[in-house]
Amino acid sequence: MVVVAAGRDECGLIAGPLLELEAEDPAVEGEGTFEVGDLQVDVADVDAGIDRHSRIVRPGRCEAARMFDRSAELYDLVYGFKDYAGEADRLDELIRERLPHARSLLDVACGTGKHLAELADRYPDVAGLDLDEGLLAIARERLPHVPLHHCDMTAFDLGRRFDAVTCLFSAIGYTGTEARLRTSIAAMARHLEPGGVLLVEPWLDPQTWKPGHLHLLTVDDPEVKIARATVAALEGTTSILDFHYLVVTAAGVEHFTEHHEAALFTREQYVGAFEAARLVVEHDEEGLIGRGLYVAAAR
Ligand SMILES: C[S@@+](CC[C@H](N)C(=O)[O-])C[C@H]1O[C@@H](n2cnc3c(N)ncnc32)[C@H](O)[C@@H]1O
Repeated sequence: MVVVAAGRDECGLIAGPLLELEAEDPAVEGEGTFEVGDLQVDVADVDAGIDRHSRIVRPGRCEAARMFDRSAELYDLVYGFKDYAGEADRLDELIRERLPHARSLLDVACGTGKHLAELADRYPDVAGLDLDEGLLAIARERLPHVPLHHCDMTAFDLGRRFDAVTCLFSAIGYTGTEARLRTSIAAMARHLEPGGVLLVEPWLDPQTWKPGHLHLLTVDDPEVKIARATVAALEGTTSILDFHYLVVTAAGVEHFTEHHEAALFTREQYVGAFEAARLVVEHDEEGLIGRGLYVAAAR
């Protein structure tokens, strides 16, 4: 094994050529980490992205990078019904029950930054990250003074820790596989201060998902009318949502579709991921909006 070069991008990922690995190198088999020079390389990262015959250690980015391409600027209208202020109150309560003097908070998969906007006055040191550039651009306009990173939650290292880390509105489902669920929870856990709190709002589980269910969401705004129609589908244990959008503005009517895939992880898979990250986890059945909430603490 030969180190060729080492660099890190804004998410702390090893970027660019780094390793010379033999095709069948035992270092990339199995679990855990291996060392290259002063770097600890997680085999899960290798599994996620390395071409075993070449040299790049970089997790494969989730498909979600493109999921909100067309609807980013509609996101806040489409989810205008969500009570971000009320959710922030509940999150704050849950965090302070465990860590009364918490002052730093990272929102993973922060989207347009609406939870952060509600929490920023209670936590003087907040940050966010998201994979979708369009949503992040809106978050940056909303929160010009908050560090907002373009990162993949499945592997990131911001080089610091927080009293609380959140991952909300089922964003975790976009990780897609149990391996990436685990690397995501592990990355979040690595960003917790000792005694810090991690709150993850899950996506639905396989029992709750109803393939064939019809869903229509409408927005009736003076400047724009939106209809978003979907038939819930299932592939294996992945929920499939092909959103058909009709967007009506003074410029005319636009139709486009967006394909979303989110894994239906079981309770056992979630709990397994928290425990593997050495967190003590509790499950709140109701959570913020009825989808439940995992509340985990660093040991
Ligand atoms: C349903 S939205 C939730 C956004 C925000 N937390 C909220 O409550 O409005 C899901 C979010 O997950 C983000 N996302 C999906 N996969 C991601 C990944 N691998 N890394 C970081 N963000 C991701 C999407 O870009 C999107 O912002």
